Amino acid sequence: MKPTFYITTPIYYPSDKLHIGHAYSTTVADTLARYKRLRGFDVRFLTGTDEHGQKLQRKAEAAGKAPQEFVDEIVKGIRALWSRLDISYDDFIRTTEMRHKVVVQKIFSRLLEQGDIYLGQYEGWYCTPCESYWTERQLAGGKCPDCGGPVELVRENSYFFRMSKYADRLIKFYEDHPDFIIPESRKNEMLNNFLLPGLEDLCVSRMTFDWGIPVLEDPKHVIYVWIDALTNYITALGYLSDDSALRERFAHYWPADVHVMAKEIVRFHTIYWPIILMALDLPLPKQIVAHGWLLMKDGKMSKSKGNVIDPNMLIDRYGADALRYFLLREIPFGQDGVFTLEALMERLNFDLANDLGNLLHRSLAMVERFCDGIVLTPGAKTPLEESFEQLILESVANVEAAIERYDFSTALTSIWQIVRRGNRYIDETAPWALHKSQNEERISRVLYTVLDALRIVGIVLQPFMPRTSGAIWRQIGMQEGNGAAWELARLFGLLPTGMKLDKGEPIFPRLDVEKEIEALEALTNPVATASEPAAGLGVTDATATAGSAVTRIAAATQSATPLISIDDFSKIELRVGRILSAERIEKADKLLKLQIDLGFETRQVVSGIAKYYQPQDLVGQKVIVVTNLQPVKLRGVESHGMILAASSGDQLVLGTVSADIPVGSKVK
Ligand code: MSP
Repeated sequence: MKPTFYITTPIYYPSDKLHIGHAYSTTVADTLARYKRLRGFDVRFLTGTDEHGQKLQRKAEAAGKAPQEFVDEIVKGIRALWSRLDISYDDFIRTTEMRHKVVVQKIFSRLLEQGDIYLGQYEGWYCTPCESYWTERQLAGGKCPDCGGPVELVRENSYFFRMSKYADRLIKFYEDHPDFIIPESRKNEMLNNFLLPGLEDLCVSRMTFDWGIPVLEDPKHVIYVWIDALTNYITALGYLSDDSALRERFAHYWPADVHVMAKEIVRFHTIYWPIILMALDLPLPKQIVAHGWLLMKDGKMSKSKGNVIDPNMLIDRYGADALRYFLLREIPFGQDGVFTLEALMERLNFDLANDLGNLLHRSLAMVERFCDGIVLTPGAKTPLEESFEQLILESVANVEAAIERYDFSTALTSIWQIVRRGNRYIDETAPWALHKSQNEERISRVLYTVLDALRIVGIVLQPFMPRTSGAIWRQIGMQEGNGAAWELARLFGLLPTGMKLDKGEPIFPRLDVEKEIEALEALTNPVATASEPAAGLGVTDATATAGSAVTRIAAATQSATPLISIDDFSKIELRVGRILSAERIEKADKLLKLQIDLGFETRQVVSGIAKYYQPQDLVGQKVIVVTNLQPVKLRGVESHGMILAASSGDQLVLGTVSADIPVGSKVK
């Protein structure tokens, strides 16, 4: 029987669309799941959503929706995102599902009955965005120690979990299982900050909101989020299910091998979760693996800062594998990593286009040019090939070791050692010279060696970049399926000969960095997209071609929600303005900085029209300006407003008005 491997991601709050931070955790878990499957494990991979709690209830209210309706919509988007990112989960649990709710109630009842949960009085400081209660001592300068936001004092009857009863057992468990928490530094943090000073009992129910699972014995209370959330890992498998097949499934996969998450929820997973499991007499998970945060230059990603990167945007432009590669390669596992568009571009251009894409494409081009596209039976190996093979064997072993210690960046670097060596090997053997001297024996060997190395790269890349593996194999004439077995990465000469290959297209084309960064900057901040027409051209044009979008706003809105009400429209203030001056912006060949007279003030607007208008031709023109947009910075230059333009294909024309209407006039 295959050994089992049960891996989970956190269940995410469906309070907003997810960002690349969430995509990072899920990609990490997916990579491990794929790897373990390839290594012969019976893998179960769980992800899902954590749908209850006050914050969600409030968000739904603010959106004028019932909580269930509100979360349903967001969860749909989350599932779509995982499907686009090729997340190979086996199950998706939602805490609003009956299979979860019923079992959470059973768990609560059992803990109540055996005296682990008791009714008491709660007083504490609550941070709504973090869904966390804090004691006075834990606050940081009167603010939430996690997010730095305001906290409110709450006092009410609540059920409590007698955590202290299990503290000694947990400390002993840490001692006996030195690998329980990865990285180890977090273990010391848990011991010193929480366990050794004395564990406080945990409040596990609330009366101040009702969007949650009611306590069966006392339905005025709903079960507070962490008991509801953590138990997803066992309810999804079938713990305490009425269906015996599901109970068997639970017995088959539990305990979990790895719970993946970021550092801020380690406390819940390494203290409360093990104690809940002890109280239920269940074995504890084998490892809690915590990575760092993906940060932006100005700190953590957050909606309010407007610095959230939508993974869909990156998948649209570069594909799922490019995003997966970037996340896994760029961030040293366990540490925080700063996301920058520049770093993304470098990885895509250097590692994917120059190294990998180029190795494949130039090899195929040479097979086409020198061998009529046929993979010839290779001539004898020389010491050069022997040493290349040696490097491949070492790299594969390094990939395995690195994945086992969650060091994805090193694992990918090891694969790239093969890729880079492949490019050097071609430079050294110079097949073009061999062709000139008609050395067929050697040329067949060189090209075969490179293609066979690419076959191996395809195998070991599977956990990280599943689509790319498929694309490489297809181009070198391999069938997916058995040939993809991990063990075959250690054997050479398995690429069939005699096949005719087609050069095909480069799998990772080189990107124009400046153009991409401009476009991404505009897309990152939706306001920026609207206020900076041509920078977002690649995307807005797609919606505009169907009939010349009249305005960028119309184009952008069209793609998101097809119809808006008159009230929505009336939120946009449009006025006539006269362009007083226009100048180019250094290093941004699409942008012009405009000063616009609105009658009551002069506005600076940055507009992506440099390709269509000479600055001097604009001076004096009367244009329509969106005047109530939030200011944004484009390429470091403040832009407060946007001018309207019509575009179709390569054409763009400013929306102008008759000369005799005064500046400042409203356009309705
Ligand atoms: N619902 C709880 C988790 C319950 S698990 C039983 C929750 N949800 S969350 O939506 O806030 O997701 C937090 C998790 O999302 C983090 O632990 C991490 O896995 C991921 N990330 C969210 N933002 C992130 C970054 N900026 N960087 C890295 N990971 C990020 O907490």
